[in-house]
Amino acid sequence: MSIQKATNITWHQGAVTNQDRERLLGQKGIVIWFTGLSGSGKSTLAHAVEEKLFEKGHISYVLDGDNIRHGLNKNLGFSPEDREENIRRIGEVSKLFADAGVIAMTAFISPYRADRDKARELVQNGRFIEVFVKVPLDVAESRDPKGLYKKARAGEIKEFTGIDAPYDEPLNAEITVDTSRYSLEESADMVLDFLRNKNFI
Ligand code: ADX
Repeated sequence: MSIQKATNITWHQGAVTNQDRERLLGQKGIVIWFTGLSGSGKSTLAHAVEEKLFEKGHISYVLDGDNIRHGLNKNLGFSPEDREENIRRIGEVSKLFADAGVIAMTAFISPYRADRDKARELVQNGRFIEVFVKVPLDVAESRDPKGLYKKARAGEIKEFTGIDAPYDEPLNAEITVDTSRYSLEESADMVLDFLRNKNFI
């Protein structure tokens, strides 16, 4: 899927570096990778973090699964191969954002550990922060904001994550947040505290 097809291409390095851009913006370009079941609260949490960062004068950008699947990834479905390609592209896009000096946040189920690890390898050491948005399946299912669990249980949607498609829980996430136990405010502060402790902001 990710073979190098193009030949006769040369990398061009501009004079303005990643460090220059980071100095200008007063922050580090990093990737905050939210992963978890559908309905776990990934997008909600990422947007809450975005608001807090914005208030403090930091520029971030949320790449959200449902949104990206309307555009860049509209040709991908939910087979294992398509999910892998979905995550590969988002890994590459978030790498570009981080290189631009932006705090990139991704909110995709990203169910396969191997794919998340590949996304991690794309960015500089320490600059990939995996946030496991952890909720028990029954909690995500009872929230069912889009009515999709109900459809999956009825057999109307196949290969639905947590029902008849797998989710590999992270083994070494930098942050684990149980959104069924902490408020949105508390959960967002956990992420902000981590960023401050690491001097990313
Ligand atoms: S991922 O598995 O490839 O990372 P992604 O985060 O982009 O998934 O998209 C997940 C969203 O697509 C869910 O929140 C849900 O709204 C919708 N969706 C539709 N079909 C499925 C499915 N079979 N499995 C999981 N999510 C699905």
